[in-house]
Amino acid sequence: MSRQATAGYSPTQIGLHWVIAALVLFQIIFGDGIKDLGRALKRGTEPDTATVILGNLHIWFGAAILALTLWRLALRITRGAPAPAGGNTITLGLMKAAHGLFYALLLAMPVTGLVAWYLGVHDAGEIHEAMKPVFVLLIALHVLAVVWHRAVLKDDTMARMLRPGR
Ligand code: HEM
Ligand code: HEM
Repeated sequence: MSRQATAGYSPTQIGLHWVIAALVLFQIIFGDGIKDLGRALKRGTEPDTATVILGNLHIWFGAAILALTLWRLALRITRGAPAPAGGNTITLGLMKAAHGLFYALLLAMPVTGLVAWYLGVHDAGEIHEAMKPVFVLLIALHVLAVVWHRAVLKDDTMARMLRPGR
């Protein structure tokens, strides 16, 4: 995906990575809020305050993830990303596939969520829910890969997402 090799990620790219990561974790941990809100609205029962707050935050945070991801992709294309810290054809291929799948999910999750919620398309909601375990697995693999770089390969991969390059 990289158009240019830069010395490192920019402060904006790093900030976007961590803000999006925090929002995604919130969405996954508190995903039940919007399910409960949808159920209450369908049944015509009064949702409790926590459900209303968590349900609405799910919509706003999800829409924010979509907007921030579009910004992030625009930067990725115009500014580029640093060349990989190292690796062979297989690990570099896996990394590219994992990052590509991340971007696909960061777009597909909000889009299917919005279509399900505002247009009432049931199948979009099913797809939205089915993508959850894929997302969780990918995050686990991503974190394991970062730990592997730190503990085994002892390279600067983690530092690249903490300290901006030029
Ligand atoms: C939870 C949601 C997360 C998402 C959606 C996510 C997504 C991504 C994506 C798409 C990239 C590739 C950036 C690019 O070059 O375009 C990336 C890089 C990176 N992520 Fe995450 N990430 C998440 C969480 C984390 C966590 C928890 C850590 C730390 C343990 C982490 C550490 C890193 C590092 C160090 C890189 C840089 C890899 C490199 O320089 O090649 N990420 N992340
Ligand atoms: C990257 C952004 C998003 C993530 C990671 C995410 C994640 C989740 C998760 C984990 C669940 C619970 C699934 C389950 O426990 O089986 C859920 C449910 C749901 N989300 Fe999202 N979501 C995102 C964006 C959105 C947006 C923008 C909307 C728009 C309103 C939305 C609408 C929904 C709905 C309606 C449900 C309930 C589906 C049902 O009960 O059939 N989501 N989401």
